[in-house]
This record gives sequence, C-alpha cells and structure tokens, in this order.
Amino acid sequence: MSQSLRPYNTFGIDADCQELICYHSTEECLEAAQHLKTSGLPWIPIGEGSNILFVNQHFPGIVVHNSITGIHPEEQEYSILIRVGGGEIWDDLVDYCTGRGWYGLENLSLIPGTVAASAVQNIGAYGAEAADCIVKVEGIYVNPDSDDAPYEGSLLHDECRYGYRSSIFKDELKDIFLVTYVWFRLRRRFKPTLSHAAIERHLIKDGIEPARATAKDIRKAVIAIRQQKLPDPKLTGNAGSFFMNPVVTPELATKILETYPDMPHYQTPANDGTEGVKIPAAWLIEQCGWKGKNLGKAGVNPRQPLVLTNLGGATGQEIVTLATTIQADVYRKFGIELHPEVRFV
Ligand code: EPU
Repeated sequence: MSQSLRPYNTFGIDADCQELICYHSTEECLEAAQHLKTSGLPWIPIGEGSNILFVNQHFPGIVVHNSITGIHPEEQEYSILIRVGGGEIWDDLVDYCTGRGWYGLENLSLIPGTVAASAVQNIGAYGAEAADCIVKVEGIYVNPDSDDAPYEGSLLHDECRYGYRSSIFKDELKDIFLVTYVWFRLRRRFKPTLSHAAIERHLIKDGIEPARATAKDIRKAVIAIRQQKLPDPKLTGNAGSFFMNPVVTPELATKILETYPDMPHYQTPANDGTEGVKIPAAWLIEQCGWKGKNLGKAGVNPRQPLVLTNLGGATGQEIVTLATTIQADVYRKFGIELHPEVRFV
C-alpha cells in the first residue's frame, strides 16, 4: 500500500512511498532496522523533510521517520548536558534552551527541521553551527551490505567528522546509521556570537547595543531576519538553501574578481583543509539573472535566490530541471560548480 509523503517534505511535492515507518524509541528503531534488513527494499531516513527533494512521484521503498521526543537536561557546574530525542522540532529545542538561560543555540533560531537532522546536516546560520554544541549522537547501525544484525551505537563529536554542512552521517554512514538521540552541551554564561553583520545591523536598528544583547535579543533578531528573507515553507514549498556556498581556489576567485570587483567573498579553508575562498551562491545565481524568475511551477525566490520554491503543484522533476539549468548557467559564466545542499531521493 502506498503512503503519501506530502506531510513529510517541506517542498510540498506530492510523492508517495511503498511504506512509512515512524519510530518512537530506541527499541522501535531497532525493530524498524530489522524490518529494513529483511524487506529487501531501499530505504531512507527522514526528519521533517526540510532538506529533501523527492525527484519522482513514487519512491519504491521505505521511508523511516524519527518520532522520538523528549528533552532530558542534566545541570552541571558550568554547563548543561542535554539529551534530546531526534524527532523533536529543532526550533522548539532552541526556544526551550534560550528560555531557560542555556546558551549556544540562539543563532540557529527558526531553522526548519528536526534535532536528528541537525546532527546529520550540521545545520548552520549566522555564525554558528549545530556541531559547536553537539557532544554525542546515538543511533542504530543498519548496514544493508553486511550480514550483521542491526545494533546500537554512538559517536562522539570528533567521530562525527563535522564540516560545513557535512558529517559522517551524510557520507560514510549515509542511510547506515539511524539517529535516535542527540546530546548537546550548552553554556550557562552568555556571550553573543555577532560575527554575521546582519545581526549587528538588526540589533542596532532595534536600539540594542550588540555587545550587551541577550540571547533572547539574538533569537528575536535572527527570527526577524529569517522571516524577512526566507519564504515560510508552510505557505510556499521550499527546502531552505538549495545549494551550498561554493569554496573555490584563491586563483579562480582572483580571476573572477578582475571582471567582478564587487563580488562578495570570504577566506575560508575548504573541507579538505586547503586554502579557499567562499563565494555566496546567492550572488552567483543573481548574476546569472535567475533572481525572482521561474521555470514552470519551480521558482527562484526574489529575496534570497539561493532558495528554490514550489510555486504550487510543481513536480520534483520541475525543481530538478530548474536546479540543473541554474547550475549550467553558473558554470558557463563563472566556471564554478554549485552542489545541492538538498538531498535528491
Ligand atoms: N546575496 C546576493 N543576492 C541576494 C541575496 C544574497 O548577492 O539576493 C549575497 C550577498 O552578498 C549576501 C550573501 O549573498 O551577503 C550571503 O547571503 P545570506 O546572508 O542570506 O546567506 P547565504 O550565504 O546565502 C547562508 C546559509 C543559510 C543561512 C545564512 C545566514 C548556506 C547554504 N546557507 O546563506 O542557511 O541562514 O547563511 O547565516 O550556507 C539553509 O541552509 O537552508 C539556510 C537558509
């Protein structure tokens, strides 16, 4: 029997799958994992589906949804250690912690998705990323290519191999490790992260001196900035940033700057540790004339062109066609490959 995936993807694509399993505990996750192994079908773990694009109308396999809730804090002398069910909504956790005076997540306010997804994707915004506070990730190993029965395990922060929007869960353990719980360490003492200029600008506009901002001020500012720039997935289907910001070699950046001296760019190490220059994908897409444009029912957001949208009834294929057309244009004009941040299924 097929199962609709409409409520499980923020793009609002009308796809379905063969079977949907929601697990509410580690035990249920283990049972689900055993079923995955014996089913012979492909599978994919999802959270709120805020970073996924169902390319075809039908996914001929099993979608596994983490529905584990619960926030379990342990107060320690200088910090709070907190174990959170992967099915908790990310922004509910940020709100819960900011409201209690536990700091570290406030710059990541209003990011759609679940806690499990935050650990898989290493979500990031406004100078912070989830990995800054993650200490451990618990889950179930289920390897389709081995005869081993599924088993419980956990990875400490350093074993998760976090980088910009990357982790071991998106790479070597992709679809092999089903997250159950994520552990965070939060601070009791607050120090605002103000590295992103938009936050300072917003605070000053609200009459708040940035260095004196509280965590609640930062949360409020981030929410306001995001609401101004990013379309609400409840109203317009989207999955946030569709592409990652590319990191190019210093030589390529210098060459492009000769023609486009105003190109925004930031020195940053590439994920392999070599010297690199990050260029906003939004700027590249805008330069190619795509800002606010559409191809059929797939659109490019007029305020933040890094976000592709479902203008109503778009198919996964329509979004893919728009994405690949943009990629080809950016490559032709700048010699830069854009890589999707969104996962294609
Ligand atoms: N820009 C343009 N034209 C535009 C919009 C932006 O040229 O229409 C350029 C500007 O130079 C601007 C720069 O792009 O300074 C960066 O824009 P923005 O601050 O909106 O951030 P971003 O790099 O496009 C990233 C994350 C967002 C996160 C913001 C804020 C990625 C892929 N995206 O976007 O994350 O909210 O920074 O930190 O890294 C997401 O992952 O879904 C997401 C929304």
